[in-house]
Amino acid sequence: MPLIDAQNLYKIYDIGGTKINAVNGISLSIEDGEFISIVGKSGSGKSTLMHILGLLDTPTSGVLKLNGQEVSTLTENKLAKIRNSQIGFVFQSFNLLPRTTAIDNIILPLKYSSIPSSEWQGRAEKMLELVDLTERKLNKSNELSGGQKQRVAIARALVTDPSVIFADEPTGNLDSKTGEEIVELFRTLNDKGKTIVIVTHDADLAKVAKRVITIKDGVLI
Ligand SMILES: Nc1ncnc2c1ncn2[C@@H]1O[C@H](COP(=O)(O)OP(=O)(O)OP(=O)(O)O)[C@@H](O)[C@H]1O
Ligand SMILES: [Mg+2]
Repeated sequence: MPLIDAQNLYKIYDIGGTKINAVNGISLSIEDGEFISIVGKSGSGKSTLMHILGLLDTPTSGVLKLNGQEVSTLTENKLAKIRNSQIGFVFQSFNLLPRTTAIDNIILPLKYSSIPSSEWQGRAEKMLELVDLTERKLNKSNELSGGQKQRVAIARALVTDPSVIFADEPTGNLDSKTGEEIVELFRTLNDKGKTIVIVTHDADLAKVAKRVITIKDGVLI
């Protein structure tokens, strides 16, 4: 059974009578342990597709299954529960709380999980170690470099031990060398078995993935 099974997904925006088919009939299945990149031009529908696959957004039509469970018909409450426990997100702009320490940023998703609070600190410290930032534990995130911020964001995405990590342009705000370090980190995580889906329009970065999916005008090509 695939980890993610999407059949005939559509996302149609209606802005003032004009319809935009952002996702225009996409079927896709993702196996546990895969490392996939989604590439395509600006506006081709990459983020929209990723937000649907990651349960941040719902499709206009189509069927989406996660670990065999149909999620396309669930209420926002139930989706949030699944999202918090099974999915990790990394964004281009890091999305950390600026005046909050690295460790507390990483602990945040645990507060919305069913993981007992007695485990939060230990889990977060393990994640800091994994991204090699133990010495920055008590620094506020606005005291960190871009690459360090993104490593905290990745640690935060991993702390609930999700089934899959989605990253939307995770190197978009980083210089090329720092970007390569982040890509290397994703590669290491995938070697350890984590399923990773990265959206990028950088073809070089995309090559690191084991499978590259190209999207154009809302369809896979
Ligand atoms: N909330 C929205 N309302 C209306 N149209 C939208 C909305 N979000 C996205 N779109 C449109 O859907 C299409 C796909 O957008 P999307 O953000 O998925 O592209 P993208 O491939 O991620 O682009 P980029 O590389 O620039 O991030 C675009 O034409 C965009 O304008
Ligand atoms: Mg995008």
